[in-house]
Amino acid sequence: MRFDQITLKNLIHSYKDWPVEGNTFRDLTPLFNDNKALHLCAHAFVERYLDYGLTHLAAIEARGFILGSIVAYQLNIPIILVRKDGKLPGKVIRDTFTMDYGERTLEIQDGSCGEGDNVLIFDDLIATGGSILAASTLIRKAGADIAEAAAVVDLPDSGGVEVLGEANIPTFTLLAYE
Ligand code: ADE
Repeated sequence: MRFDQITLKNLIHSYKDWPVEGNTFRDLTPLFNDNKALHLCAHAFVERYLDYGLTHLAAIEARGFILGSIVAYQLNIPIILVRKDGKLPGKVIRDTFTMDYGERTLEIQDGSCGEGDNVLIFDDLIATGGSILAASTLIRKAGADIAEAAAVVDLPDSGGVEVLGEANIPTFTLLAYE
């Protein structure tokens, strides 16, 4: 199977006016259903990050968990779970932000990472950048550095890459929907 952007785009389905009117939802479920495509996607991230000196991968709930776990496993680094509020037991660090369609609070467990750590943030998609920015705030509050934020898809119209750039968070994606 040849890995290119057309193959990848065929495995990302678009749903107009979902979950709210005016939003076109880019659904990666068909990509997750295709083991060969998933393998090739994971490989693209693993190749990029082999020499980044990463200590952790912070995967954002829920779709960031899927590919993020595969990439972290192949890079042989631990996973930090970035979860919606109320899901993680014990002491947590939290941040609230606004996304394309509503407000959200994200948390990590205290002690997941700390000073001297170099963390890759991972999600399926970059839209406004709100969830990645919140995840970065959590990682930085914990004392660690952000190496980069990675996702399969970028939605440039939502401006997330610029927002993240202003916060000194470099980004890497495999595909953009203009
Ligand atoms: N998260 C935020 N905006 C999105 C979109 N348009 N499609 C899928 N996930 C999203």
